[in-house]
Amino acid sequence: EAVTPQMLLASPLRAPSRSVLPMPLQLFGAARANSKGVDLAAERERLPLLASLAVPMPAAPNDTSVAGAAAAMDALHAAQRGWNATPLTERCAVLLRAADALERRTSEFAGLLAQEGGKTLGDAVAEIREAVDFCRYYAEQAAARLAPQTLPGPTGERNELRLHGRGVFVCISPWNFPLAIFAGQVVAALVAGNTVAAKPAEQTPRVAQRFVELLHDAGLPRAALALVCGPGETVGATLVAHRRRAGVCFTGSTQVAKAINRTLAQSAGPIVPLIAETGGLNAMLVDSSALPEQVVDAVVQSAFRSAGQRCSALRLLCLHESVADKVLEMVAGAMAELVCGDPAEAAQSWAVDVGPVIDAEAHAALSRNIARLEREARLIARTPLPERLAGTHIAPVAFELKSIGEMREELFGPVLHVVRWRGAVDALVDEVNALGYGLTLGVHTRIDDRAMRIAERARVGNVYVNRNMIGAVVGVQPFGGEGLSGTGPKAGGPHYLYRFCGEQTVTVNT
Ligand code: SER
Repeated sequence: EAVTPQMLLASPLRAPSRSVLPMPLQLFGAARANSKGVDLAAERERLPLLASLAVPMPAAPNDTSVAGAAAAMDALHAAQRGWNATPLTERCAVLLRAADALERRTSEFAGLLAQEGGKTLGDAVAEIREAVDFCRYYAEQAAARLAPQTLPGPTGERNELRLHGRGVFVCISPWNFPLAIFAGQVVAALVAGNTVAAKPAEQTPRVAQRFVELLHDAGLPRAALALVCGPGETVGATLVAHRRRAGVCFTGSTQVAKAINRTLAQSAGPIVPLIAETGGLNAMLVDSSALPEQVVDAVVQSAFRSAGQRCSALRLLCLHESVADKVLEMVAGAMAELVCGDPAEAAQSWAVDVGPVIDAEAHAALSRNIARLEREARLIARTPLPERLAGTHIAPVAFELKSIGEMREELFGPVLHVVRWRGAVDALVDEVNALGYGLTLGVHTRIDDRAMRIAERARVGNVYVNRNMIGAVVGVQPFGGEGLSGTGPKAGGPHYLYRFCGEQTVTVNT
């Protein structure tokens, strides 16, 4: 419903936060700080080498054969008891040393992320920060939570709860965060006492290989971690179906998560947990009290940063009809200012807002869907794309749909769908819930009660009020969804490590 004077009187308007004043809009390249609080100007100062992303590219690791993947699982199984017996303090120390080393090697990893993953410099720096944060946070969490506890009680016995690694964890990670998600999964599983078979996405094996080397240099025994490269359909499937797997941690598509679940259910071996973090049809709800400048900044960042290749990205912008025209005009203006470019070209690396999409297959699928939307929906705006980038980049584009019911599957790129809404906000939230995903939700309103009511009704893992809806910060914004978006527990949150652990209660008659 539109905001009425009575509603405003009943619930005082939130004052505009300082971040939106004064204008102009904070487009990415011009942003002083990104959503992770990375001060880009300070980074430029601190790391002058980052002006060049043209680091030498190492050779890609060879694909592992199916037999090699199975042999790696057996070897990891044999090594797990020894790694699990390594004192918790030493397992934590490996992660802390790795974090320090990664921080020192920011320039090298930023270059790899730009060249292998198409990351802009701002995104690369933020991703390295996130990987460093995962190492330090999980080390701290492990020290605080995984030590044995004595449970006092009325039995007259000594009762102790002990946590241990489950066995061999299979970690399967995506190309869109080839360092942060790869690292987060692997170090969580390791610090809990598991040995790990780590399978990176086929598009980004070099970043993964470098991080594995870094972990070994930080003191991780070679036998505790195996990098297993190759196609998911063959190599990934071998790992998941192997009788020695004791758990699977997967980030990727909903469809593949379901296939993994089926394989786990049907193959020999124990019943094991699946931690799946998948996609989203993430919405942003904007009411008539929202600040248009703040909305536009949040929309552009959330939908187009990382070329829209984030599971958290905004896909569906729901604008109250009373503000829709004004906001859309401003969104179009902001989109016209975005700079598409090749982040690996040294001279312009700080200026690029939107890099390429990951590969030709993604480019073709997005192009097909955009052609469909050109026929079925109303084009609102498109960022200009230099001709020479037409084969590698997708220009940020926004389309207006007539209703939420027209939303199809997640388009993993810089494609924004917009609908206008009127009537009760609860009904709008129910429509978004009915899409079945549940990852992120953006809310823009200056009525605090309304924001909280929406958050309570929404079936999503992460709600962002009056800001963008990407870039969850490890330790303070635990990240992950529900429904078609994943199983939980949330990465970067206090419950994550427990899922990688087995538990044993030891009761001694004293
Ligand atoms: N953790 C990432 C984010 O919050 C996932 O895409 O944006």
